[in-house]
Amino acid sequence: MTLISPDGQVKIDFVLHSEGKPQYTVSFGNEMVVDTSDLGFDLKNQPDLLTGFKINEVIRTNNDETWERPWGETKFVRNHYSELQIKLTDKKGTDRKLNLFFKAFDDGIGFRYEIPKQRNVDSVFILSEETQFNITGDPETWWIKASHDSYEKKYRNTKLSESATVATPVTMKSGDSTYFSIHEANLTNYAGMTLTHQEGSTQLKSDLASWPDGVKVKAKLPLLSPWRTIQLSKTAGGLIESNLIVNLNEPNKIEDTSWIKPMKYIGIWWSLHLFLETWASGSQHGATTENAKRYIDFAANHNIQGVLVEGWNHGWDTWLNEDSFDYTTPYPDFDPEEVVRYAKEKGIEFIGHQETGGNIPEFEARLDSVIAMYKNLGVHAIKTGYAGKIRVFGQSHHGQFMVNHYRKVVELAAANKIMINAHEPIKDTGIRRTWPNMMTREGVRGMEWNAWSKGNPPSHTTTLAFTRMLSGPVDYTPGIFDVKFQNSWERMPKWNEFKERGLTLQVRTTVAKQLALMVVLYSPMVMAADVIENYENQPAFQFIEDLDVNWEDQKVVNAEIGEYITIARKAEDRWFLGSITNEEAREFEVSLDFLDKGKEYQATIYADADDAHWDTNPYEPAMYLKMVNAETKLKIKLAPGGGQAIEFKPINQEEK
Ligand code: NOJ
Ligand code: CA
Repeated sequence: MTLISPDGQVKIDFVLHSEGKPQYTVSFGNEMVVDTSDLGFDLKNQPDLLTGFKINEVIRTNNDETWERPWGETKFVRNHYSELQIKLTDKKGTDRKLNLFFKAFDDGIGFRYEIPKQRNVDSVFILSEETQFNITGDPETWWIKASHDSYEKKYRNTKLSESATVATPVTMKSGDSTYFSIHEANLTNYAGMTLTHQEGSTQLKSDLASWPDGVKVKAKLPLLSPWRTIQLSKTAGGLIESNLIVNLNEPNKIEDTSWIKPMKYIGIWWSLHLFLETWASGSQHGATTENAKRYIDFAANHNIQGVLVEGWNHGWDTWLNEDSFDYTTPYPDFDPEEVVRYAKEKGIEFIGHQETGGNIPEFEARLDSVIAMYKNLGVHAIKTGYAGKIRVFGQSHHGQFMVNHYRKVVELAAANKIMINAHEPIKDTGIRRTWPNMMTREGVRGMEWNAWSKGNPPSHTTTLAFTRMLSGPVDYTPGIFDVKFQNSWERMPKWNEFKERGLTLQVRTTVAKQLALMVVLYSPMVMAADVIENYENQPAFQFIEDLDVNWEDQKVVNAEIGEYITIARKAEDRWFLGSITNEEAREFEVSLDFLDKGKEYQATIYADADDAHWDTNPYEPAMYLKMVNAETKLKIKLAPGGGQAIEFKPINQEEK
């Protein structure tokens, strides 16, 4: 049975092999991307769902609708696909059943399983999901090593056969122009999937994070699995413009979304990672009422909407000794009521912080009071954190237990009008469509790694735009101006210790690239992460001040995975552009045909200076103005590890 996408380019073939074994293939244009691959499950104490099936019923449907979102890369999303549902039953006439749903879109495919109610069976224990992705050829692959606890890894770029067990999204390129990425959508009441891989082969197989007893998923029937997805595109940028993941999620469940607002934010944060101030109490304590007010003042004066404060509650002094956090009691030098009152007076959203240290039972026991506390304070956003191991024997960050925990927090927050920014999260699988208060998340080797490790290479962000970012918003926390910590190192008590360990602490980009990242790396909550002292009297801060993150449209202008990417995003009548490169210097001529036709724009350009370089000369972007329109071909020059950020503002006739 064949299923073809609306434009005829994407094709799924479903086959029932002679032993009654369900299998599929995926083609894109003339190329087979996934060769014959198995489907099904191995179950505990029940016959497997792998072979011995016959087709009982086939249903075909089509859909073409456009939905509007409260926030996102684009205001409208077209959901256009053909669907094939296949209901399998046991050949021998027993009641063993398995349903398969396939969808073919122009930008990729999705399939999912349903284990419907079976005779005398009301629940299942999945021992393994046997989904295979038998990739044809040996494509170039961008991947991070799988773990069921963390996505904070450096990317590698090898042939698929030379990769290891990988996390998703995992992105590949075969030939000159077939780009594809495997991931999952709508991960609900199920375990997160990584992909195992035998050395030398190009066959990937689903590997689910497990419960302590080795079972992967425990569920009442009917059980719907997440969608297994493959985004497909003829260009690298097409992967970024794809809406496959959100389209495979359920519509929005929050009726009134007026309180959900994209924002730029700053916070008492980078100073902690640089060890200039501490989360814990003492003379260097960062989260004081006074310090928070300083940040609030800065935000109010510079068109920043939110202020995050970390280290305000008890527990930071002892949490590494396996103690739990006190989620609601402030340190004596921090007065939450006063800080939130002050923030409100200045029109600023206070962003609360809850580090759990992975102590889920404690946190869940206190969750109602935590949420009630924020509700009573009138706080609309919290950042959650799950640093370290999950403190429940045998549980990992990505198993079904935690998938359900993360969701519970999002749903409870939604009921109390609170937005979530999760760190050490479960990967994004598009649930922001259903729960648009799930704003952004980390799940990436973010900026913090530059403060206390070997850091992230210049190619890190040019890779994660095509990998991690395909899953959804990234709280990467860009915007560091003092990239070599010149203003800080003398005050950094740990500096010598790091030096002795041979670590050169720095952010491996130019400052212009830091600005560009705020456009390139999509997030509805964009942190300007540096300490505010480093923004004072910096002309380039104007870009951050002028930036609007309420995007309505996007266009990937040019892109090659791991090498460079230029994205333009629209907010009201302005456009912003971010262009970044890896270690290589580059020069492009880009067409500004995304600008509205017939309008003249003033472009404010923040570029790498002529001799800029991420290591030898990263500071002081060159700034200049230029009049442009949709006909303009603009030259963009990027330094090694550099970038460029541009604001395009329409000029009205009088000003002209
Ligand atoms: C790790 C998070 O990624 C970071 O943003 C946070 O500051 C620390 N944990 C402390 O919660
Ligand atoms: Ca982290």
